[in-house]
Amino acid sequence: MKPILLSGIKPTARVHIGNYFGAMKRFVEMQSEFQNFNFIADYHALNQMLATPQEIKQLTLELTAAYLAVGLDPKKTILFRQSDVPEVTELNWIFNSLITPSYLQSAHAYKDAVAKKKDVNMGLFCYPVLMAADILMYDSNVVPVGKDQQQHVEIACDLAKKFNHVYKKEVFKLPKAVIWEGESLPGFDGEKMSKSKGNVIELFEAEESIKKKVMSIKTDSKGVQDKKDPEADLIFAYHKLFSAQMIDELRSRYENGGIGYKESKDILFANMMAYLKPMRDKYFKLIKDEKYLNKVLADGGKRARKVAEAKMTAVRKVIGVR
Ligand code: TRP
Repeated sequence: MKPILLSGIKPTARVHIGNYFGAMKRFVEMQSEFQNFNFIADYHALNQMLATPQEIKQLTLELTAAYLAVGLDPKKTILFRQSDVPEVTELNWIFNSLITPSYLQSAHAYKDAVAKKKDVNMGLFCYPVLMAADILMYDSNVVPVGKDQQQHVEIACDLAKKFNHVYKKEVFKLPKAVIWEGESLPGFDGEKMSKSKGNVIELFEAEESIKKKVMSIKTDSKGVQDKKDPEADLIFAYHKLFSAQMIDELRSRYENGGIGYKESKDILFANMMAYLKPMRDKYFKLIKDEKYLNKVLADGGKRARKVAEAKMTAVRKVIGVR
């Protein structure tokens, strides 16, 4: 049996190049060695009270098309909607009964939202519990997350231990958080890349819009002939990902002088579009085929649910409800 890798993504935003290099590309690389469970966390989207039904539906399809376009193979990876596995919300309820409000009050997502005076619903407050149900349901071994989600995996571990202890049976495996900090690529304005800052380049946004963003990458004011430190330049940081085939040449032109930022951006834009082309072509075909996307999700949902049903049979038995 292959080790299980699990990851959820909320259908509240489109994917960008940081998501690609930080996570999606690695899911594709790992899908033969691991049994991947990649799901669209649609019930998690409800904890952001702004998510509309249209957005959740549309972004679920877009994320599915995105995952397939970058190379997830639905025969290998179990790609599904969280809501297609109702056992997860059932397990969430059981976990709620093993945890106290004061414990959850110390969770980052909740504390941050309160500090920012955002509207907080019970969904957000209980967010780590639902996430624990996602993680523990499938006996996940590896849960790759950003630093901001690490605590949630620890809460899942606590819940697994608590459940196993209270019911004196090893029903849940302890998952391991693996921290993927992406390629630590900054946004095109030089700030930390983040959807909320609006400084991301989406994988599937219009070419013209990508061009504008590339042309607006922040630089210093050195002239064409000036020698430049490639490591201090943001365009060059992007070249490392998109211009690998000519990186040595670019590096020496930076170090010796003779390349201006305008030319560097032109090269970057061309290389970026060439790099993204195969996945963009695939995506724009897939996104038109809603029927196929829904079929992939339904198939994945069935496979995930089979695992969940077996787990819940064991859970119900040990807690005495069956
Ligand atoms: N909370 C994650 C996020 O906002 C999404 C998520 C939900 C998740 N359930 C998960 C991630 C389980 C990993 C494992 O990004």
